[in-house]
Amino acid sequence: MINDLRVCVIGVGKIGEALVHCLISKNILESSRILAVDTLRERCEYIKGKYGIECSSDISRVVQRCDTIIIAVKPKDVRSVAEALSTYVTPKQLVITLAAGVSAGFLSGILRGKPPIIRAMPNIAMLVGESMTAIAKGPNASDEHLALAQEIFSSAGRVVVVEEKQMDAVTALSGSGPAYIYTIIEALSDGGVKVGLERSLATVLAAQTTLGAARMVLETKEHPAKLKDMVTTPGGTTAEGLMQLEKGKIRAVLMGAVIEAARKSERLLKS
Ligand SMILES: NC(=O)c1ccc[n+]([C@@H]2O[C@H](COP(=O)([O-])OP(=O)(O)OC[C@H]3O[C@@H](n4cnc5c(N)ncnc54)[C@H](OP(=O)(O)O)[C@@H]3O)[C@@H](O)[C@H]2O)c1
Repeated sequence: MINDLRVCVIGVGKIGEALVHCLISKNILESSRILAVDTLRERCEYIKGKYGIECSSDISRVVQRCDTIIIAVKPKDVRSVAEALSTYVTPKQLVITLAAGVSAGFLSGILRGKPPIIRAMPNIAMLVGESMTAIAKGPNASDEHLALAQEIFSSAGRVVVVEEKQMDAVTALSGSGPAYIYTIIEALSDGGVKVGLERSLATVLAAQTTLGAARMVLETKEHPAKLKDMVTTPGGTTAEGLMQLEKGKIRAVLMGAVIEAARKSERLLKS
């Protein structure tokens, strides 16, 4: 089904480029079936050279030739992209928006052709094919459209289907989440350096430990508390370390980060 598609990615910045890379490198779409649009001419030249795909700064030249249009510009630029798309998009095309804090209803209000809309929230790990992407049906979208979006984003990692009303929460947890984890990895590495390890070694230890612990949660499907208990010997080193985390209120801090990021996502277009 998907290899017959012609996909247009509007905005080939970090996320747009990562998606193009995943679609081509996982053999989901041939490069001739991906078209890109970006306002920056140098960016287009770079994308054309690296992936052998067509890239233009003129939306009207590209959009009518695509079945699926993926909007990957910053939230503040979505309105102008939607206005530029408005006269060209038809109900036969699928529009997928990746922008944080921009509802499918907002887009639908601008797009006169009333196409089906899917909202998706990936994360930056798309760069290494390990994104956590949540997708939700918007106006006029069917289960087939959702299945198509699922196939597209599966090329870049794991995909879950959610209700659109959950998107601010998803943005706050898995959209922003890599930044929280990088901070944790950096802090663990700092701790390693403090107890005498070389920086590069400490960072590898912290990062691989994060990766391994995450895979244990996903693959065993055990509650994280049970996995934590498995490695906590009574009176041992891990119990000592955990007590420091509790003293620093790490749970409340991380929960607070997700809560405040969700609030910010809710008011993103208003600020
Ligand atoms: N980065 C993440 O971790 C992440 C995670 C989840 C979701 N997202 C969402 O993904 C979207 C893209 O994020 P990003 O980090 O990839 O941003 P980015 O690196 O800034 O990429 C956006 C690209 O779109 C271009 N652009 C701006 N206006 C345009 C227009 N009218 N037509 C065509 N291209 C246009 C930008 O060019 P200029 O630089 O000239 O403006 C830039 O090259 C955002 O809406 C964000 O909310 C990002």
